[in-house]
Amino acid sequence: MKKSKLDEIYWSHRYRNRDTGWNIGYISTPLKYYIDQLEDKSIKILIPGAGNSYEAEYLWQLGYKNVYIADIAIQPLSNFKERVPDFPDTQLLHIDFFDIEDSFDLILEQTFFCAINPSLRSKYVSKSNVLLKPKGKIVGLFFDFELTSQGPPFGGDLVEYKRLFSDYFYIRLLEKSINSIKERQGKELFFIFEKKTK
Ligand SMILES: C[S@@+](CC[C@H](N)C(=O)[O-])C[C@H]1O[C@@H](n2cnc3c(N)ncnc32)[C@H](O)[C@@H]1O
Repeated sequence: MKKSKLDEIYWSHRYRNRDTGWNIGYISTPLKYYIDQLEDKSIKILIPGAGNSYEAEYLWQLGYKNVYIADIAIQPLSNFKERVPDFPDTQLLHIDFFDIEDSFDLILEQTFFCAINPSLRSKYVSKSNVLLKPKGKIVGLFFDFELTSQGPPFGGDLVEYKRLFSDYFYIRLLEKSINSIKERQGKELFFIFEKKTK
């Protein structure tokens, strides 16, 4: 599969074929622990490349009603709607992340950044910056293994992530995740980046 073909057809095909090894079936522990210490339930949250988005379901059940999930493929959004029927359709965005026009307090990242063509990484950073309100945060997990032409998932390391995000974000935290799910232990970095105010 050529990297340039990581489009809606590619991802829909993977959902149709149930070729979804990333789908862990429950909220990951690092995201759960991060969400558990949040206090303001009114914040507007975006989960891009959300897939089946167990974290959105968790947030919704906790009373976070300003949650938006976005995916280029329709299947995971339909799966989500079946699991969480009272979630508003207007907050289920069948859209390319790079085409979203809105603003958020928080973006939650998990296995979306690693799923895009690595040539789009700078664009991901600038788009996240534009999508966030002043002092907004992007928080989540990045894979910590070598970036090669093989993927998705495409790897990376702490130095690269820091270099990519530093122009637009304060690096509040970027370190080995200590509470990853078993299959990802030692292979993830947990991060909190805060939008720089100009
Ligand atoms: C590896 S999966 C991860 C799904 C989810 N974050 C998880 O942890 O289970 C990547 C997801 O990103 C979606 N995706 C890929 N490119 C996208 C884009 N440009 N805009 C929005 N979603 C995209 C895919 O359809 C897929 O659901």
